[in-house]
Amino acid sequence: MKTTISVIKADVGSVAGHGIAHPALLAKCEEILAKAKEEELLTDYYITNCGDDTELIMTHKQGEENKEIHELAFNAFMEATAIAKDLKLYGAGQDLLSDTFSGNIKGMGHGVAEMEFKERPSDPVVVFCCDKTEPGAFNLPIFRMFADPFNTAGLVIDPSLHNGYKFEIFDVMEHKKVIMNCPEEMYDALALLGSISRYVIKRVIRKDDNEIAAAISTERLNLMAGSYVGKDDPVAIVRSQSGFPAAGEVVEPFAFPHLVGGWMRGSHNGPLMPVGQKNAYPVRFDGPPRVMALGFQIADGELVGPADMFDDPAYDPARKQAAEIADYMRRHGPFEPHRLPADEMEYTSLPGVMEKLEGRFEDID
Ligand code: 13P
Ligand code: 13P
Ligand code: MG
Ligand code: MG
Ligand code: MG
Ligand code: MG
Ligand code: MG
Repeated sequence: MKTTISVIKADVGSVAGHGIAHPALLAKCEEILAKAKEEELLTDYYITNCGDDTELIMTHKQGEENKEIHELAFNAFMEATAIAKDLKLYGAGQDLLSDTFSGNIKGMGHGVAEMEFKERPSDPVVVFCCDKTEPGAFNLPIFRMFADPFNTAGLVIDPSLHNGYKFEIFDVMEHKKVIMNCPEEMYDALALLGSISRYVIKRVIRKDDNEIAAAISTERLNLMAGSYVGKDDPVAIVRSQSGFPAAGEVVEPFAFPHLVGGWMRGSHNGPLMPVGQKNAYPVRFDGPPRVMALGFQIADGELVGPADMFDDPAYDPARKQAAEIADYMRRHGPFEPHRLPADEMEYTSLPGVMEKLEGRFEDID
């Protein structure tokens, strides 16, 4: 019998501004998921939040893209939205693009990462949750986990990893996907993955036996909604140990707080700061962007844990560096590369400014 892990998330309201999800929202989700567990639709669940995004981490036997599981999450977020509206939380129902469920939660504004596998004798899984950034934020760390031997020693020294992994890469602009093999096609894969707002890793699969290794939520809210309704704030599920990178190799890339798109008004580059749950609350200039890592052991579908993996003093230097980079980037004010290039900005006053200047632009001799 296989186990499915579904992580479904949405921002349905926060305190103050785009800060942190209110506990009443998590309590409502808890009530709904507890009932689903009692009715044996879910095997287990864990509810958390990264900043203003609420994450439902669920295990079950229904497989990926299951209507009942998606509807359960949809309903939980709808009911949480009703509370958010009562409390006049900021951005009540922000990510929900539709109030009627159509059979699959994809395309409705939520972020979704799911994987189904046959449990090993021991199955460690890490769930990453981000706030104030976009799915491409995972390109660099996921690539490093599964393809960079300077990150993952196992790629070199462990025969069970040595053959490498396949990366399923989505072109989110053209709605196309391609599967690329690493290490053979590493340079070609990086040519795509460096363009983080367009090419995003959806899945990683072990080449030896096609076993699922990682799944990432790739939904781009502004592309679905046609306008800015907040950043996507993605999640990822990564399996570790015994044929996968060790848990420590899975969290290692985040010791480098790389620059990602998001932060204030979804329109700025800033460092991705790895944080424990207690600090998953972006404040300064609505950031800097955050990522937290929850480690579980999956035991017959039960979620044993979590371990709050970035709540580790060894990540203090990364947090300090992220704070310093945040300072440095902020000093650019409205200038690139702090502010995103015009075509990637979620907000722009440029058309209005250009309209005002119509007739005042002259040819340069
Ligand atoms: P969220 O996507 O986290 O709601 O952020 C929106 C925003 O504009 C922050 O400044
Ligand atoms: P809403 O789209 O949720 O109103 O947020 C916009 C925003 O970016 C405020 O900083
Ligand atoms: Mg928000
Ligand atoms: Mg958010
Ligand atoms: Mg968001
Ligand atoms: Mg070991
Ligand atoms: Mg534990």
